[in-house]
Amino acid sequence: MTHSDFSGTRLISAISDPVVVTWQSPSNIALVKYWGKTGRQLPLNPSLSMTLAKAFTETRLTAFPRRKEGSVELEFWFEGLQNRAFGERMTNFLDSVNDIFPWLGQVALKLETHNTFPHSAGIASSASAFSALALCLCSLDAEFFGIMLDENEFRFKASYVARLGSGSACRSLFPGFTVWGSSRAFPGSSDLLAVPVPDVHPLFNTLRDTILLVNKDAKPVSSSEGHSRMTGHPFAEARVKQAVKNTAQLLEALKTGDKQTFIRIVENEAFILHALMMTSDEGFMLMHAETLRIIGRIQHIRKETGLDICFTLDAGPNVHLLYFEGQNEQVNKIIVEDLLKNNEQNMRIDDMLGSGPMKLD
Ligand code: DP6
Repeated sequence: MTHSDFSGTRLISAISDPVVVTWQSPSNIALVKYWGKTGRQLPLNPSLSMTLAKAFTETRLTAFPRRKEGSVELEFWFEGLQNRAFGERMTNFLDSVNDIFPWLGQVALKLETHNTFPHSAGIASSASAFSALALCLCSLDAEFFGIMLDENEFRFKASYVARLGSGSACRSLFPGFTVWGSSRAFPGSSDLLAVPVPDVHPLFNTLRDTILLVNKDAKPVSSSEGHSRMTGHPFAEARVKQAVKNTAQLLEALKTGDKQTFIRIVENEAFILHALMMTSDEGFMLMHAETLRIIGRIQHIRKETGLDICFTLDAGPNVHLLYFEGQNEQVNKIIVEDLLKNNEQNMRIDDMLGSGPMKLD
């Protein structure tokens, strides 16, 4: 598979009426982390994620007739308001995928989008936003050319396109667990797009993720900047090897229902991500004191009670608490009485393993 497999060569005949498509697409949380990239949004290492159910972006894309062809013309609305900063990132992205959708300069576009979760709440909004937009673009493409891709081909194409907007977004196109980045442990995996993990023990279908919000401020170092600090990182080579190994072991644990290996790898990956940040040339730290306190408590409580709970972190200070449905009640008590006891606003977002994107019109 190469980029040319996804390139479009035809232009559309002028449309006379607006064409509208709407998609809802979820965020995802990485269990093996993508950190560092090369070339055109290619990952340095394989990553494995869990698709979320409740944290999603809903995106409506309308293509209007346009008199003169030219560069991308986009009107961008976020949560009911026109937003210049996000709009610029989206316009740059659309410019960059002009070779896949040559009709982008032939129509005027209106993009309206909103999230079901607060912006900067420790949930990767770029993952849901770019996967929803990629799905809308693929749907418009299919409508313009009357192409009927089968469901799998359609999702793979959308995953390819989403990756070009934000790496982690390519993993949001599928239900359950997803791998992005070629890994010998998973035939069919690719650096160009994500693929769903087919063989998952039913135990893991009840996985939950409660996000314990430590701080909602914008991060001092963006993910994009963080990725770039992996170039020339003293531990880069070892990191890639370790991610390959962790992906293979986590795939096996998902298959066999091995919760202890799952917990060990997931926490190892969260620590590694933040260790890589701290040990890059221009080291930085995104965890707060409260992040460390909560992590310490989770590990202690697991030891004391034997509950199957563990944590992961995104590129930020908020803690994702992972647990299984059968232990809901006990875990909820621990969240309220212990983990969030310093958090007067009791800021949490309860999510779980999700079933992937949905077309809304
Ligand atoms: C720490 O996908 O947000 O969440 O490709 O530059 O848009 P860009 O980065 P992004 O990076 C996510 C990094 C991470 C780990 C992960 O999701 O795998």
